[in-house]
Amino acid sequence: MHVVTQQVIAPPARAGMFLVITVDEGAEDAAAALLTEISGLTRSVAFRVPDDGLNCVIGIGAHLWDRLYGEDTRPLHLHPFQEIRGAKHTAPATEGDLLVHLRCREMGPCFELARIIARRLVGIGQVVDEVHGFKFFDERDLLGFVDGTENPEGDAAVAAVTVGEEDPAYAGGSYVIVQKYLHDMTSWDALSVEEQERVIGRSKLDDIEMADDVKPANAHITLNVIEDDEGNQLQILRDNMPFGEVGDGTSGTYFIGYAADPGVTERMLRNMFIGDPPGTYDRILDFSVAHTGALFFTPSIDFLDDPHPVARDATPAPDPAPSDGSLRIGSLHRRTR
Ligand code: HEM
Repeated sequence: MHVVTQQVIAPPARAGMFLVITVDEGAEDAAAALLTEISGLTRSVAFRVPDDGLNCVIGIGAHLWDRLYGEDTRPLHLHPFQEIRGAKHTAPATEGDLLVHLRCREMGPCFELARIIARRLVGIGQVVDEVHGFKFFDERDLLGFVDGTENPEGDAAVAAVTVGEEDPAYAGGSYVIVQKYLHDMTSWDALSVEEQERVIGRSKLDDIEMADDVKPANAHITLNVIEDDEGNQLQILRDNMPFGEVGDGTSGTYFIGYAADPGVTERMLRNMFIGDPPGTYDRILDFSVAHTGALFFTPSIDFLDDPHPVARDATPAPDPAPSDGSLRIGSLHRRTR
């Protein structure tokens, strides 16, 4: 069956908005109705700016999923984001029922679509976190490093982000984790460029990866290059964006990572915050504090337009436990509501 996916994979945008929304108790039917309208609302704005590549991805958090469609219909890996507490740094878990991720060549269409969605939210819920991201020079983050170089492309990107046969009811969906980081630019700027390069694991000016024998064990990319048991690299798709305000000196990176299995992103986060081995945490965290953290499922467009949640049989499957540590989920049947 052909499934129309949300456009998770997109070329780097020049402008972006990230809205985290909570839905009021009792407003579930209205929220479910709003979700079915999202692709139409996006077309209303995108059609008028055909060259701007306006793109809207919607994610649904675990608690809202349960309220809308029933806990027994949850996508296989959907769960609330869990706080990760390392010896020195913590990745907090914060509220969020819906994520709206807008990308475009210009900010105007993002703002217009966000405004339309916000208007429709009256009486349904609130925007509890809003970040307007921009593109910095050379695809750099505000730490001054090129961000996004090693993102998977083409078929590798599709494989990294798209739910497939492991959860047929929700094939074509994806999972997304977001975190809002604020940088301590005073401490960062006090480091020499060489020292900053040792924090990231790449050269600053020309973005070349350090050789393995000189790359520190606590460099950002050392801890984020991970493999499965067969030695295959496990990848996610990032679309981070800088944001900030000069008046109060805020400089931030909005981290957004899409994955077919959020466990991959969570493993990277454990490496960063707890360390691999424990204690060898990511040095980028000495200059970057995570203020939010949330996990969402982004269903296919087909699901958004015409939701068809599928209940899971609670009875464990008769086959032996899988060796990959995945949940032992029984057969699927279509939920009727
Ligand atoms: C790589 C910046 C948070 C996962 C990079 C690179 C930079 C960077 C500059 C090197 C260039 C590239 O390949 O993109 C940042 C900043 C962050 C942040 C400023 C927030 C303060 C995270 C988080 C994760 C992550 C939270 C995962 C949960 C990765 C991965 C790579 C990477 C997988 C590519 C590794 C490789 O294949 O070489 N990041 N990052 N990053 N980052 Fe981050």
